[in-house]
Amino acid sequence: MGADNAGRLQTLDAIQAEIWRQLEAATGDTTHPWRTPVLATINGHLADARTVVLREVDARDRRFMIYTDERAAKVAQLLSHPVGTLVMWSQTLGWQLRCRVHLAVEMSGLAASSRWARIKLSPAAQDYLSPLPPGTVIDAPAPTPGHKAVARDYFSIITARLLSLDWLELNEQGHRRARFDGSQGSWLQP
Ligand SMILES: Cc1cc2nc3c(=O)[nH]c(=O)nc-3n(C[C@H](O)[C@H](O)[C@H](O)COP(=O)(O)O)c2cc1C
Repeated sequence: MGADNAGRLQTLDAIQAEIWRQLEAATGDTTHPWRTPVLATINGHLADARTVVLREVDARDRRFMIYTDERAAKVAQLLSHPVGTLVMWSQTLGWQLRCRVHLAVEMSGLAASSRWARIKLSPAAQDYLSPLPPGTVIDAPAPTPGHKAVARDYFSIITARLLSLDWLELNEQGHRRARFDGSQGSWLQP
């Protein structure tokens, strides 16, 4: 259905639907390569980029959620320049996505507090409890901290709202590329 004899989806609508299906699947599948995209941001006159975990995907609102420490450099960067790009590649699909996004951070409020309530008793909570901000110069790596009382948490949510999506398919039958702005799609020369 909607696929050619090489098994490829034919229409822009079918491709877009499959992109969102894969993105939603990636959040719940630790082996899906799209679960760990690279998030690029603007750092003054420089580019910056790092791997993050795609925690939630809302296909209807075209939004992604990433968790982070509110003191991380990427948070200061997105507060100055609230735009970025999420890049992901799947060898299995042969698909690269470049998602141009508007970025916002939520440090308190219901969205952050309800998610923090879920993870604060898990080992992952340590990622958001360090007394030292990420990137602080230290004498030596500290041993893994146990559960101990800390002054506060630094858990925050980065929301990435999709502005446009650049899809590239590498395939021996011929590469294909398309851009999706809103619900509109256009084919592009790869
Ligand atoms: C597989 C992987 C997943 C990661 N996931 C996250 C994440 O979800 N959130 C995060 O803040 N950092 C994550 N990191 C760490 C970042 O890549 C980065 O080193 C750290 O956040 C500091 O980045 P910054 O100084 O640009 O803020 C991850 C790193 C790896 C290797």
